[in-house]
Amino acid sequence: MKGIVVAGARPNFMKVAPIMEEFKRRTDLTDLSVLLVHTGQHYDSQMSDAFFEDLKIPQPDVNLGVGSGTHAQQTARVMVAFEELCVAERPDWVTVVGDVNSTLACAITAKKLGIAVAHVEAGLRSRDRTMPEEINRLCTDTIADLLFTTDLMASQNLRNEGIEEHRIHFVGNTMIDTLVRHIEQARSLALPDGLTDGEFAVLTLHRPGNVDNRETLGGICSVIAEISRRIPVVFPLHPRTRKRLEQFDLFRLLGNDTNISVMEPLSYLSFLGLVAHSRMVLTDSGGIQEETTVLKIPCITMRPNTERPITCEVGTNVLVGTDPDHIRSAAQSVLNERARTSSIPEKWDGLAAQRIVEVLVLTTA
Ligand code: UD1
Repeated sequence: MKGIVVAGARPNFMKVAPIMEEFKRRTDLTDLSVLLVHTGQHYDSQMSDAFFEDLKIPQPDVNLGVGSGTHAQQTARVMVAFEELCVAERPDWVTVVGDVNSTLACAITAKKLGIAVAHVEAGLRSRDRTMPEEINRLCTDTIADLLFTTDLMASQNLRNEGIEEHRIHFVGNTMIDTLVRHIEQARSLALPDGLTDGEFAVLTLHRPGNVDNRETLGGICSVIAEISRRIPVVFPLHPRTRKRLEQFDLFRLLGNDTNISVMEPLSYLSFLGLVAHSRMVLTDSGGIQEETTVLKIPCITMRPNTERPITCEVGTNVLVGTDPDHIRSAAQSVLNERARTSSIPEKWDGLAAQRIVEVLVLTTA
């Protein structure tokens, strides 16, 4: 038997790490070989190599080197390169994770070659079809043979879409497997100069819906500058956001009269350590909503919707959209309030990859 595990972009790497580790641990699977394929969607060392190093992910067996482009260009380049690879390697199954363009591209390609497809982190729905990730999720889940979900709401979404029960497996969250394995090491790292434990906020911003529009990005930057006068803000900058801040001449809003530290994207451990020591996180990321829930750090999500509603229902997440007034008042209430009670979703326990590999082995044997 031969399997392929695909990773393409930054948020994929922490999801494949525990799966690859579990295959290595399962020395009983002597007749199975697993290849790790990197599509090259993310390629900068800070967006890719740093994660492989921190998470000790084996070097990819193949890197398709597709790079950046429009959605069609990027998706198409992955499909062409991945088809050639699948024809040469003839895998029995392909596992894709998350919701990036590489996820969709490899799922379609494999399925059309008659190869079984497993999707890790299936069933998440924002119900916002202007998000490219939502299109990637819907299309990938429709065709995948095995759908591994992180929570029961996601499993129900799949049932509501008519997906048969035998395809759906509630296994937990591989990103949280990675967090569980690395949190102690991350917490022990020194904080950047000038920061005190529990007395700073972390900001991340990269959604096209937020950063590709001058007015929206400007509004967010202005209110963050205000918030920074009450609590220092650390801002690791995604390359997309850096480009937009330059293009729209908005860096001046993050300047000297604020208390914002803008920095390059951080490696996995440095970022996790920073979040774990922070007072709150302001973000438009998907995965960070989950990580803050497990760490019990208040999370203010600057989006109108989330595909991860469980983080609001039981976790620490609040959705505020991008209206500066709403962002300001959410930050103020975190700074003024005592700790809210929250809990950790079921099966976010560090064992998701074990469950996934078990199902994969039993189903594809
Ligand atoms: C992608 C995912 C998004 C995920 C995000 C995490 C899709 C549709 N989007 O968005 O779901 O949340 O990754 O980061 O797959 N760039 C670099 N260096 C890199 C990679 C990108 O400079 O290593 C720049 C390029 O200018 C590129 C832009 O960032 O055009 C956007 O990269 P892209 O992969 O298209 O999408 P992301 O915004 O990163």
